[in-house]
Amino acid sequence: MAKSQALNLGIDGLRLYRGYLDREAQAAMVAQIRQVCAAAPPFTPRMPKSGRPFSVRMTNCGVLGWVSDENGYRYQATHPETGQAWPPLPQALARIWGEIADYPCVPEACLINFYRASAKMGLHQDRDERDFAAPVVSLSLGDSCLFRVGGMRRSDPTRSFRLDSGDVVVLGGAARLAFHGVDRIYPGTSTLLTEAGFSEAGSGLGRPKGTGRINLTMRRVTTPDTVAAEPALNGRS
Ligand code: SIN
Ligand code: MN
Repeated sequence: MAKSQALNLGIDGLRLYRGYLDREAQAAMVAQIRQVCAAAPPFTPRMPKSGRPFSVRMTNCGVLGWVSDENGYRYQATHPETGQAWPPLPQALARIWGEIADYPCVPEACLINFYRASAKMGLHQDRDERDFAAPVVSLSLGDSCLFRVGGMRRSDPTRSFRLDSGDVVVLGGAARLAFHGVDRIYPGTSTLLTEAGFSEAGSGLGRPKGTGRINLTMRRVTTPDTVAAEPALNGRS
């Protein structure tokens, strides 16, 4: 069962669960992310064509990971720098998906974004997946941010709201292809990463040590019929 009531913000298909993870669960998740980073070090993605670096750093867990470089945006089974398979999706993340995604298969990809104080993410759609029937489920940890969401067209009106550590956003249904982005980080609004001893090494988070924001975005990439052997997600609660 979801640990908090979904808020309907007036955007069809967008659900916001404030404080979905309590502090203890957030700290446990940070420990899991640290393990993912040890196996799959955060890297700086680059814009297609121009090669301009993103202001966020990224890594992934799951069978597929999202990467971006001069050759474009794509999902791939291996880390772009180490060539190794991505680490498996931690059980705690699969559980969140099982509780709220309302989708019969496990997520294949979890993109982990690391935002320093000055990092942001421009308005974009998540549309590199083949299966738009599955929602995008996104967990925020650490410093708060101003999250912006609009409609199906870049020019549609947008609205913004603050996301705090432990909040979960679901973009599903009519909002699955909604434009969204991160306008700004509010540095120093959370002590989670400092207290969890999240090392700056490799994370790309800014000084002082441990400040910044981590966002985890779980996605289904292929359609269920393309991966016949995919086990249905058990343990829904
Ligand atoms: C993303 O759209 O990839 C990240 C969104 C966020 O950081 O909340
Ligand atoms: Mn996105």
